[in-house]
Amino acid sequence: MTDIRIPADLLPLDGRFGSGPSRVRLQQFDDLTDRAVTVIGTSHRQPAVKRLVGAIREGIADLYRLPEGYEVLLANGGASAFWDAAVFGLVERRAQTAVFGEFGGKFAKAARAPWLEAPDVREAEAGSAALLEPAEGVDVYATPHNETSTGAMVPIRRVADDGALTVVDATSAAGGVSADIAETDVYYFSPQKNFGSDGGLWLAIVSPRALERIGRIAASDRYIPEFLSLANAVDNSRKDQTLNTPAVASLSLLESQVRWMNEQGGLDWVDARTAESSRGLYEWIDRHDWAAPFVREPEYRSQVVVTIDLDDAIDGGRITAVLREHGIVDIEPYRKLGRNQLRVGTFASVDPADVASLADCIAYVAERL
Ligand SMILES: Cc1ncc(COP(=O)(O)O)c(C=O)c1O
Repeated sequence: MTDIRIPADLLPLDGRFGSGPSRVRLQQFDDLTDRAVTVIGTSHRQPAVKRLVGAIREGIADLYRLPEGYEVLLANGGASAFWDAAVFGLVERRAQTAVFGEFGGKFAKAARAPWLEAPDVREAEAGSAALLEPAEGVDVYATPHNETSTGAMVPIRRVADDGALTVVDATSAAGGVSADIAETDVYYFSPQKNFGSDGGLWLAIVSPRALERIGRIAASDRYIPEFLSLANAVDNSRKDQTLNTPAVASLSLLESQVRWMNEQGGLDWVDARTAESSRGLYEWIDRHDWAAPFVREPEYRSQVVVTIDLDDAIDGGRITAVLREHGIVDIEPYRKLGRNQLRVGTFASVDPADVASLADCIAYVAERL
């Protein structure tokens, strides 16, 4: 306990600023309650749950205005499972991977599978960004869109036009940052960030070229575990179902959020909202000489995860402790970075006015430590 008390009129209306799991809007729970008897607790092989999966797939297709032939896949396991599925079912011989933080690093590690050639890893230190480049013998180019561990974000564009696939981990970007899907072959994500759902699912927007690759590798003699089979995910997704039992409540939360995003104005609207939240915070950082953006190059600064380095004289751990006592949670830095830092999720559900209040609260506490 400390004796710093933040005046109630400075506090945000909602104190959840985590980078995932992240804020879930109350309307999503109302929708869940409405489905309490009709959908929750009913069979995932019957129309009620399948309609929910279908609505999610259509909602994502609308949100991203999918180009001809692109499809939305959905399966169990989260983005972590997708990494392994991609190594079994998307990479033919060799991947090039961008590593500028924890999550890009995890894909690079998965891509060291014994049946593949060692990956071509393009690495940059945390707080900066590594970009992919066309290279001989590479058939999958993989990068995070937004590196959640550091708050660095990169532009999304197709890397090579020689049949190689551009595969993007959009776990913390999807539903919050615009992307031209035609520049990607696979844009995959877990739904517990901008989509305000729970963990445990992965979704992927896939191009005709990626579908062709999935089919070709599945028909080859490569061993692929059933749970990680992308060909299975394609078959099941087309039937609005999953291989094994999904978390139906998570599907409901996700459906509500996608519907809300589309009603508000789609991807342009969420992109503008997260840009407003994060811009306000970066401008606030500029006005405080004890704070600095961790991502030095402005073009790589994330609009959905803002990382704030603090001067040695300001103890970030004490700030987060005081804020937690006031119901403001989860702005601790990514644990493995080990920096004196704050990390703020400015995802779609977060009201820009709450981000402004959060900034006022941080300053209030920092100036009284
Ligand atoms: C960019 C990114 N990729 C992948 C993951 C892993 O997602 P999951 O825990 O759903 O497997 C995360 C989780 O935070 C992430 O931020």
